[in-house]
Amino acid sequence: MHGRYFFSEAAAILLFLGVSKPLTIAIDGWSSCGKSTLARQLASRLGYLYVDSGAMYRAITLYLLRKGVDLSDLTQVRERLKEIRLDFSYNPARGASDMILNGENVEAEIRDMKVAAHVSAVAAIPSVRELAVARQQALGKAGGVVMDGRDIGSVVFPHAELKIFMTASPEVRTQRRLAELLPKYPEITVEEVKTNLSQRDHIDSTRAVSPLIQCPDARILDNSELTIEGQLEIASGWVKSLQG
Ligand code: DC
Repeated sequence: MHGRYFFSEAAAILLFLGVSKPLTIAIDGWSSCGKSTLARQLASRLGYLYVDSGAMYRAITLYLLRKGVDLSDLTQVRERLKEIRLDFSYNPARGASDMILNGENVEAEIRDMKVAAHVSAVAAIPSVRELAVARQQALGKAGGVVMDGRDIGSVVFPHAELKIFMTASPEVRTQRRLAELLPKYPEITVEEVKTNLSQRDHIDSTRAVSPLIQCPDARILDNSELTIEGQLEIASGWVKSLQG
């Protein structure tokens, strides 16, 4: 976690110089809305730590699948969670941190369709959320952090100075996800991608524990018709307005 200390120190130095107050920025929204692209770019522009909270749920899912755990057996799941250690390691080639599961870099594997098919069900298990949320709060406790996910503004950092809720039309989201998956799964169809996205939306927004909600104090960013640069400019403007 060298990256983390670097970013926190950078934010602290800026604060000392009176340049700006390190903020906590929570970015929530539907799957494949471009949350991580915005979060990564915003963090890099501000010299903040970026945390991809979804990667943690994916890594936990991968671990449970590898161990053949019956996901409906909550006692077994809880026991297995004790064996999991989650870390991030900065990867300069990506300009972001890779997910490390028990010392193994699993960044590529957690993006597999197999993980995507089960991650929403795993993320709905209370003991899984307990583990992930505690880790996320520890990572962000010094401020100067941009974290993206589904419950960052509502549960992880309810006092975040800036909350952004990202959305985009289902058609745009499907096309984005398809473009991501096609190089790896050339046979995949638009219908399969659409179905996976809508199933995940349904589970994420209807689960009993910390469902995806739009916080009343979140700023809405619909990027259906925005470029990547355009959304970054809007979010940067919000940051500036808060830094005064
Ligand atoms: O952002 P993502 O697609 O990598 O997230 C993977 C899954 O994890 C998604 O289906 C919802 C879940 N998730 C969550 O429940 N809470 C978060 N803070 C982040 C992700």
